[in-house]
Amino acid sequence: MDIARTPSTPDGNPQLADAAPEPKEPPLIRREDYRPFPWLVPEIALDFDLGLEATKVTATLTVARNARADTSQVIRLNGDGLQPLSVAVDGELVNDWTMDGGDLMLPLPGEAHEVAIVTEIDPSANSQLMGLYASNGMLCTQCEAEGFRRITFFPDRPDVLSIYRVRMEGPKAQFPILLSNGNKIAEGEGEGGRHWAEWHDPWPKPSYLFALVAGDLVARSDSFTTMSGREVALNVWVRAEDLPRTGHAMESLKKSMKWDEEVFGREYDLDLFNIVAVGDFNMGAMENKGLNVFNTKYVLADPETATDGDFDAIEGVIAHEYFHNWSGNRVTCRDWFQLSLKEGFTVLRDQLFSQDMQGEAVKRIEDVRVLRSVQFPEDSGPLAHPIRPDSFREISNFYTATIYNKGAEVIRMMRTMAGPAAFRQGTDLYFERHDGEAATCEDFVRAMEDGAGLDLTKFRLWYSQAGTPKVSADLSHEGEVATLTLRQQVPPTPGQPAKHPMPVPLKLALFDRETGTHRGEQLVMLDGAEKTIAFEGFAQPPVLSINRSFSAPVSIERHVPREDLVFLAARDDDAFARSEAMQELVVGHLVAAAGEGLDENERSEGRAAIREALTAILVDPGLDDLMRGELMVLPGETYLAEQMLIADPGRIHAERESLKAWLAGELGRELRDIHARASSVPYSLDRAARGARKVKTLALSLLAAGDPERTADLAAGQYDAADNMTDRQGALMVLAGFPSAARTDRLIDFYRRYRENPLVIDKWFSLQAMSLHPDAIEHVKALRQHEDFTLRNPNRVRALYMAFAGNPHAFHAASGEGYRMIADMILELDPINSQTAARFVSPLGRWRRMEPGRAALMRGELERIAAATGLSRDTREQVTRSLG
Ligand code: ARG
Ligand code: ZN
Repeated sequence: MDIARTPSTPDGNPQLADAAPEPKEPPLIRREDYRPFPWLVPEIALDFDLGLEATKVTATLTVARNARADTSQVIRLNGDGLQPLSVAVDGELVNDWTMDGGDLMLPLPGEAHEVAIVTEIDPSANSQLMGLYASNGMLCTQCEAEGFRRITFFPDRPDVLSIYRVRMEGPKAQFPILLSNGNKIAEGEGEGGRHWAEWHDPWPKPSYLFALVAGDLVARSDSFTTMSGREVALNVWVRAEDLPRTGHAMESLKKSMKWDEEVFGREYDLDLFNIVAVGDFNMGAMENKGLNVFNTKYVLADPETATDGDFDAIEGVIAHEYFHNWSGNRVTCRDWFQLSLKEGFTVLRDQLFSQDMQGEAVKRIEDVRVLRSVQFPEDSGPLAHPIRPDSFREISNFYTATIYNKGAEVIRMMRTMAGPAAFRQGTDLYFERHDGEAATCEDFVRAMEDGAGLDLTKFRLWYSQAGTPKVSADLSHEGEVATLTLRQQVPPTPGQPAKHPMPVPLKLALFDRETGTHRGEQLVMLDGAEKTIAFEGFAQPPVLSINRSFSAPVSIERHVPREDLVFLAARDDDAFARSEAMQELVVGHLVAAAGEGLDENERSEGRAAIREALTAILVDPGLDDLMRGELMVLPGETYLAEQMLIADPGRIHAERESLKAWLAGELGRELRDIHARASSVPYSLDRAARGARKVKTLALSLLAAGDPERTADLAAGQYDAADNMTDRQGALMVLAGFPSAARTDRLIDFYRRYRENPLVIDKWFSLQAMSLHPDAIEHVKALRQHEDFTLRNPNRVRALYMAFAGNPHAFHAASGEGYRMIADMILELDPINSQTAARFVSPLGRWRRMEPGRAALMRGELERIAAATGLSRDTREQVTRSLG
């Protein structure tokens, strides 16, 4: 990897950047250019001679002409940074091959051949963490999307499916455990302390699902009996010291296996399922066939070191990767433009699973919060793309909230329109029709039409059009008739200036003001630009509850009096709609306050309405605390900025903090009561105790805004009394925001307690980078120099810098220092780990929506990055799109 880069332009002057030679844009890959590969590779045998610094790979491919593709006299085998040590065809060494970029071009005259290629790689030098790399003395792989080509030459595309046989050999003391996909079919001892193992995976798979792990690992083992009575051996492999923290992951796996049988009729198809936890990992986890590789963050948990949120996230990610065994592995993707086929569908499946495990209402509210704070900004910014993109330069940049989370919403809409039973008919048909194939989004839609009985002709627009539709809802009333007028508009996005209206399924209910009840929920399809619906029999104007359970991923503008929102926030029987009414109350107030501004009268009326609604929530005995907690969460600053054409993050932050302080003053007694009540609930993992912990810290953080000194004592007390990470982290998060001795003491204590546990030290970095402390920027600078900080570990980089980029008052400091720090870090990280570096570009890409001062500063940083030479394809693409 090229590490050359230009020195930064000292004054951020874009003229200097312009003087540099135009950097070359990597080629654009288009969906419409898809062609089947001219060759089939029914079998591959891989032989690994393992070493941390040198691993020799011998790949033997059986190739045959693909009758369904154009003929070719030359096979293109993708490679990335590889040199062939030898190439043989049908047992004879050949040298008529050439290189085209990183790819090996090999002439093949006949119908079928055996191709054997030897390569050598250095896993310890692989800081990109793609392909075969070393982590903590072990060897592991990450091949999705295009990492296999860093191991050996191969048609590294998801529509080439092969049966894999893997042999690996190495020093037994260093690599006592040798794992790959499928089943272990043989093993043995060799000379000089070496040993070997042979694995065979009976299911044909694309190269991105290949995995190998070799290291000093121990397993928590268990078993699961499938619905047809087959026993599956289950293992969660970790380093010895982590074994006590694997119980929750194992339980989550067994629950996932059972749930997928019951809800989707999917049975596991091997006798063995392995999970391995790795400390250095670019993403969350990976669904390699029979050998899922996980970021330690999504495996290891116990009450002392993991929060309730961590427990839930582990359950969800374990389920997600397990569910891929059908939605992704048995039916895979034809090409990477179809990524949402497996990811959107699998996210929906993991969401439905978690709803069943954790409770539907809270989970739905949380999923929508993530969608709105991450995907909505993506959909309205320079990186907007449809869930099935038309082009890309680097596929790693398309593992996005749009592909994953909006993709899940699109399939969820199909489920809403069809109903769960018909939806299941659709998914059954999809799996049956395409089992063993590399399929497309279109295949999925057609299976839904045929199996679920839907007409999705117009609905397909959700796959091709980017942008979050805006739907306005106006309710008028005359005589006995209430009339609802719905209008939609899909905003322009890069490359898509004009849009068609899309079918939008909206669940709604009309409440009677007097009785506080409604006459039943209905599903209304807004299928054009505008629709008017009359509801009869309303003597009084009803209250509109709309997009209940967030039936469509749109933003709703309902023009209703404030008291309607207070009404719904106190009693809507749809939990999502209830939380939504509360959010809208606060969003409406803060957007007006941070935008055109409010006079004293408007300000006090807005605040009074919020106080009334929040009071009802704090004292409602019918709410469990998990839901109460959801209703207490105020809208985030990114989401608020998203509601404004041009945002001033400084004003948004100030207004939001001042509202918190005011509420704390008004509701101090209720909040302290909640804190006291919740503090008396003993630790357990049941709903009530988890709810208590949630409202405890939420109450604390609201109180902190009103009375920092008194709250600092309360937080220090919560910290000292904590017997679990949820309480401890919550207290420290609040303390980290105050300049005080209690803050310093507890931060030191936390570090000392957990210095041996990297996942908890990640929290320690994040807490400080996210804090409301006025010197947060200085703290991040100091932490960058901390001996535990390293750019080589993605978890650590994210712990410090993603947390910082998500801390509006620090990242958006008017001086531009926050922007500069992120840009400096991107330039430094890019040569080490480009995939992770590129993920930090999007916070800077929001410049068009910022007030002019910050917009110029953000743009300046993007230009400085763009002027660097030797930039990776990943970062280059994101920066160019962000400036465009
Ligand atoms: N398929 C994995 C998952 O969502 C994600 C792997 C992405 N890897 C990458 N290098 N982009 O479960
Ligand atoms: Zn996935």
